[in-house]
Amino acid sequence: MCGIVGYVGKRNAKDVILDGLKRLEYRGYDSAGIALVRNGSVEIRQKVGEIRNLEELLDNESRRGISFESYTGIGHTRWATHGAPSDINAHPHADQSGTVAIVHNGIIENFVELKERLTRQYHVHFRSETDSEVIAQLIGIYMRDAESLEDAVYAATQDMTGAYAFAVISSKDPNKIVAVRKDAPLIAGIGKGENFIASDIPALLKYCKEIYLIENGEMVVVTADRIDIFDENRNPVRREVFHVTWDVDAAEKEGYPHFMLKEIYEQPKAIEETIARRLDEAGNIRLDGISLTKEDLANISRIYIVACGAAYPAGLVGKFIIEKLAKIPVEVDVASEFRYRDPLVDERTLFIAISQSGETLDTLAALRAAKAKGARVLSVVNVVGSSVARESDDVFYTWAGPEIAVASTKAYTTQLTCMYLLALHMGRTLGTISETDYHALLAALREIPGKLADYLRDVREVEALAKILYTRDQVFFIGRGLDAAVAYEGSLKLKEISYINSFAIAAGELKHGTIALMEPGTLVLCLATQDALYEKMLSNIQEIKARGAHVLTVAKAGNRAVEAQSNEVIYIPDCRDELTPLLSVVPLQLFAYDVAKERGCNIDKPKNLAKSVTVE
Ligand code: F6R
Repeated sequence: MCGIVGYVGKRNAKDVILDGLKRLEYRGYDSAGIALVRNGSVEIRQKVGEIRNLEELLDNESRRGISFESYTGIGHTRWATHGAPSDINAHPHADQSGTVAIVHNGIIENFVELKERLTRQYHVHFRSETDSEVIAQLIGIYMRDAESLEDAVYAATQDMTGAYAFAVISSKDPNKIVAVRKDAPLIAGIGKGENFIASDIPALLKYCKEIYLIENGEMVVVTADRIDIFDENRNPVRREVFHVTWDVDAAEKEGYPHFMLKEIYEQPKAIEETIARRLDEAGNIRLDGISLTKEDLANISRIYIVACGAAYPAGLVGKFIIEKLAKIPVEVDVASEFRYRDPLVDERTLFIAISQSGETLDTLAALRAAKAKGARVLSVVNVVGSSVARESDDVFYTWAGPEIAVASTKAYTTQLTCMYLLALHMGRTLGTISETDYHALLAALREIPGKLADYLRDVREVEALAKILYTRDQVFFIGRGLDAAVAYEGSLKLKEISYINSFAIAAGELKHGTIALMEPGTLVLCLATQDALYEKMLSNIQEIKARGAHVLTVAKAGNRAVEAQSNEVIYIPDCRDELTPLLSVVPLQLFAYDVAKERGCNIDKPKNLAKSVTVE
């Protein structure tokens, strides 16, 4: 969840690190800090709040003639797990002697035990409430007798359990960063006469496009001229260079007020790209690099789709479409539940993990649990080279480009696109859909980016509605079939960025309890895009309208019968029932965005959230 950046070279490390941290702020933003090796010691600046607070502190110091310059340093942007957001708990953390500083992402599970040992044996006084400080203190102790920083770091890692990536500098072994990865992302960036480390690619895009992806259990030792990688037994490792294809612009706002809005508008292009990457010259789906033969598919008895957050409703759409087209039973589960419930998985199970970041710890743990039971693992992932991607048998990349806003939009709709492509491919290979149906649905899918671009040309009505409705303190989302999946995603989007208490439910289920909450004026967003369920949905709308609810309906263009029962209707372009989730979610994303804007919320960085959740 936290972001890490490190630099060794000939530039002012502080500037490179600050710049990198700003690009990683989406990973966590409750405090930030930088440590530099300077004049034979380690110096730290840390500040609670957003990175601009740290920047202000450094600017003030520099105006007062206090220098904070060096060629070697590490920085951190935090998402608190152990210890409240505060200056003291902000990273970097130093050891007691002040010769070692660390930045850390993840959790040291045995930190209580280590803290006790260090206090008892070495009379260490801990300054912060964090688990991370034990890393610094431990390395500081080992550094007393070690010949190099990497020796001390290696010794410390033997004592630690948990999931982490951390980076260390020391005044006793200057001009060097040592970093270790265990179940949290870590990369090393290759420069000329300078090198970098980071938790994520966007931090380094301005400086280098060639990186090494550090694997689990590995330690990387970075100086200005060398990057050496070692496995968990300290054997040197040779790693292929990974060439990043994104450019800096893809990770910038490009004139939009927020990343979220930019990413909403990028959806037509992102969906088109996800489809185009999977089509051959004749316009058929080809799953290059994914070896799902007819025999493989025929052998699958059950599919589990497992995900967290927004990726979960993408899985619900996946279930609907795979069962419809490929006739294989599909179960969808949230990863944090799946991993602890001893699910019925065997060699005939296909496990599909959906994850934008590819680093979500629960999803990764669920994937490992399924793999250990013999399942074949296919992942739908946005971040190339991420942990989920690397640990899967096959990867279906979403090609959404970097998604920076914490609230997922283009990653979500490209995940849906992958679900359609996969289901179509499975159905055709297994012969469970006719050639005619295959081509008709694929052609309709290819029309979606154009329809979405048309829709996005004028969305003023959503903005106007948000201006009227933003003061509500409770909103319900209802729908049937695929519309229910979209309702879950629309509700999640609204609550996470506007902090309005929102709740989604299958419309037919309302009368079994939730309808008790309907009162005059209760705001209900009704999804009524399924032709096959239109009449049923109209009845549900009538039921809530009869209780005085304020009904805002999303319907397909032309379906005007809802108008009589609705206070307002948002029309999406007409399309086949199966494909509506790709269009109907967009007004809901915009509604959440506009409401959050009216309420003055921090849209790209909602409180308590982080882009990549690498803790349980
Ligand atoms: C919601 C959102 C989160 C993520 C969830 C899973 O808009 O973005 O709920 O969907 O944390 O993250 P990934 O997809 O990276 O596994």
